[in-house]
Amino acid sequence: MIITIDGPAGAGKSTVSREVAKRLGFLYLDTGAMYRACALFMLQKGIPLDNEELISSHLKDLNIKFKNGRIFLNGEDVSDKIRTPEIDLAASDISRIPSVRKKLTSIQRSIGENSDLVAEGRDMGTVVFPNADLKLFLTASPEERAKRRKKELYKKGDIISLDIILHQIKKRDKADTERAIAPLKPAEDSITLDSSNLSAEEVVKEIIKFANSIDRRKR
Ligand code: DC
Repeated sequence: MIITIDGPAGAGKSTVSREVAKRLGFLYLDTGAMYRACALFMLQKGIPLDNEELISSHLKDLNIKFKNGRIFLNGEDVSDKIRTPEIDLAASDISRIPSVRKKLTSIQRSIGENSDLVAEGRDMGTVVFPNADLKLFLTASPEERAKRRKKELYKKGDIISLDIILHQIKKRDKADTERAIAPLKPAEDSITLDSSNLSAEEVVKEIIKFANSIDRRKR
């Protein structure tokens, strides 16, 4: 079974997807982390993120693997390095490049061939797994998402004003929804969940309920 969870930054996708995967015993695939790792790889090589030709020519040297919930870039565990405000924007920039999407989509599909999966991202239900068994679009108001992000950053010791975070969230939403290929949008056959007034636990339970009803119908 494949469950896709798409939605904008900060809607709670990661927390919810990880927990749903854990409770169902499925693999959790964080595709945002893959775009982040790819952006980090190009930045480390000093490649400008708008140089499509140079980026494309370096993709053959990019090796991304997941192990025990951590992401490895060419053998190095980069799980923490990819969670910075710089990489937030760099990942959004690099995700516009067609050859990058093609390469990452193909890795994502091959992971989906071998496991039951909860796949989280922007284009899981629309492009990567159009035949997924259950498609969710998880959203929340930009203000609520900014508040959550501020709390997260505060826990890491980063104190950033709510206005700045809100501005960045709106900028990223615009870039992700307006890009030419695989833009962020709900799949036609997806269920939209607005998490603005729901706890993560409530969202998880709701998704598990949907998944169980599909599982019963399939059996
Ligand atoms: O979910 P995230 O914030 O870790 O994603 C980082 C960026 O990667 C996001 O701004 C857009 C891009 N992305 C994408 O284009 N397609 C995906 N399936 C996942 C992420």
